[in-house]
Amino acid sequence: MARLLTHPMIDWKDDGTPVAREAGDVYFTAGDGLAETRAVFLQGCGLPEAWAGKTEFTVAETGFGTGLNFLALCELWQAHRPTPNAWLHFVSFEGFPLTEADAARALGAWPELACLAARLLADWPGPVRCVHHLVWPDIGVTLTLHLGDIHDTLPQSQFMADAWFLDGFSPAKNEAMWSADLYGLIAERSKPGASIGTFTVAGAVRRGLTEVGFDVVKAPGHGRKRQRLEARLALASPAKPDIYGLRAHNGPRQKIAILGAGIAGASAAYALTERGADVTVFDPVGPASGASGNPLALMMPRLDAGDTAQARLLIDAYLAARRAYSGMEGAHETTVRQMPKDKAEQTRFAKLLADPPLPLEDLEAISGGGLLHKRALVLEPARIISGLLDNVRVRTGTVEISLQDRLVNAEVFDIIVLATAMETNRQLGWVGLEGRLGQVESVADARPVQAEAMASGHYALALEDQRLWGATFEKIEDGVPAATSAAARATNADALRQLSPWWQRSATSLPVQSRAAIRATTADRLPLVGAVPDYSAALETFSGMRKGRPVDADAPVLPGIFMVNGFGARGFTWGPWAGRVLAAMCLGGPSPAEVAALEAVSPVRLIVRALKRGEV
Ligand SMILES: Cc1cc2nc3c(=O)[nH]c(=O)nc-3n(C[C@H](O)[C@H](O)[C@H](O)COP(=O)(O)OP(=O)(O)OC[C@H]3O[C@@H](n4cnc5c(N)ncnc54)[C@H](O)[C@@H]3O)c2cc1C
Ligand SMILES: C[S@@+](CC[C@H](N)C(=O)[O-])C[C@H]1O[C@@H](n2cnc3c(N)ncnc32)[C@H](O)[C@@H]1O
Repeated sequence: MARLLTHPMIDWKDDGTPVAREAGDVYFTAGDGLAETRAVFLQGCGLPEAWAGKTEFTVAETGFGTGLNFLALCELWQAHRPTPNAWLHFVSFEGFPLTEADAARALGAWPELACLAARLLADWPGPVRCVHHLVWPDIGVTLTLHLGDIHDTLPQSQFMADAWFLDGFSPAKNEAMWSADLYGLIAERSKPGASIGTFTVAGAVRRGLTEVGFDVVKAPGHGRKRQRLEARLALASPAKPDIYGLRAHNGPRQKIAILGAGIAGASAAYALTERGADVTVFDPVGPASGASGNPLALMMPRLDAGDTAQARLLIDAYLAARRAYSGMEGAHETTVRQMPKDKAEQTRFAKLLADPPLPLEDLEAISGGGLLHKRALVLEPARIISGLLDNVRVRTGTVEISLQDRLVNAEVFDIIVLATAMETNRQLGWVGLEGRLGQVESVADARPVQAEAMASGHYALALEDQRLWGATFEKIEDGVPAATSAAARATNADALRQLSPWWQRSATSLPVQSRAAIRATTADRLPLVGAVPDYSAALETFSGMRKGRPVDADAPVLPGIFMVNGFGARGFTWGPWAGRVLAAMCLGGPSPAEVAALEAVSPVRLIVRALKRGEV
């Protein structure tokens, strides 16, 4: 299976209806798509009445196609939003994403949806296996689109639906989209009383839904179709144990304190504020004062060979970062020439290019076995962090906390998020983050150029009259402060000479500034994003893991305490993705990440791993 998805070939009927050539079926009924959507899915699920009085409502769909159902639902939500702060979450699944041009052509048939369509098309995803997540705060809508075969993506999705639109091509033409294994997964992701609307009355669909606990009835069909189905979940599936603490916070959630104003804290603050929370950020020194405070930073993807959960997680983070920063002051698009730094990297690049995870718009081969990243960003961290914190209260000076009482400087919060890099080792005691000292060199007043970047282990960045190069990466004992050194400067100068002798000569003829800081890293090089476990309770609850026994219990967590940390050498790539993941956990709503990714970044994993290895 290729890592990239394929766009469907579309044929167009005379009235403009798109037909998927391979499936041999229409995306919606010819000439009548919007009316059909309203009748079969919106009315079929009892909308808008079903969301009356609710502050949050989640609709899931099989088969995103053109996005018509989503846009029709958004239109209905705008007209009948139950309160000005209520949120509509839409989760959908698509294995063969349309090109933006085909989607635009199909949606062009409905002028009444033009504004919403333009918005969706402006962020239309490429043919990449990923979780595409959009937040539209002004109308209170999120879209979480799982791209990939539904048999892979539905089991990896994390949400609970109030309503479902079952909209694969017809069961006769696209059996896979209606196969028996999907119904149980649908039921597991349905709240008690959840409704389903679909155009088909196929016996296998009725039986499949009935077997997993839905009451299914036939209703009068729309247009020329005689009948359609409506269903309601009578029997909710029992919840599975939450070993990694992934379930949404179950308590008050409006007033949130974030400790730390680096890229981790600022991204979390942005994502939580965007979702309507009242956020205060505390930092003893101030924004961008720690590792996040270099004059320039590079944001480009780390690409793993092979389609693993970790590889997909890295791609999701890169795409989320691109979307979050694009258009912000302080973000500058650039290409990056990345040459392999050693034999292992050469092999990895060759594998990657043989089956690339990103389309040619993002990634190309260059001679010598290198990668050309075509949509990377050179960032000005101070401006980016200040932009993220634009609508957020920031308090500098002493920070005193009691996690147990959820107090920060004697004020009670519903939720506290620890984004304090290495300081978290002292705040929690058991986390064991390791410090890696890094140094970069920079000059101002160089000959002005547009954004440029090169990388090969080390990197060199240019933006207007600034140049920055580095960075060193050395172990440092926890508690030892960061300090610049002449040795690190010499290492960086050597690396710059390898990257570009011309840059080396022109940049180092100017006065050079060094800056050192400490990156907080984890042993597996993945960040820590999620609920903070209650360490001693977790050791007890999960003690059977020491003997290799399976333990089916919820992770004991500290109520209302979350963390976002361990960003290592890639803080600016992780930040926006981690912020959105955290916002879904703290405030509810579908997660913008796969379950495997959530487990891979869960702080609980550190305890599970240590128990399994007999280290604690
Ligand atoms: C030399 C170097 C070069 C790098 N280059 C890049 C790059 O080009 N691209 C990239 O993506 N990444 C790069 N990184 C990595 C990136 O900088 C880090 O991953 C990122 O800055 C980590 O962000 P953070 O918010 O977790 O930590 P920090 O930025 O260190 O922020 C932690 C904050 O917590 C605050 N704090 C401490 N104690 C408390 C407390 N008790 N209460 C409240 N607040 C507290 C601190 O004052 C600080 O502001 C580089 C790192 C280094 C060192
Ligand atoms: C009838 S169309 C959906 C129409 C859509 N709801 C809309 O509003 O335009 C069915 C969709 O299911 C998708 N699909 C078919 N098989 C799939 C699979 N195995 N996994 C994920 N999506 C699939 C098709 O690519 C197609 O976009």
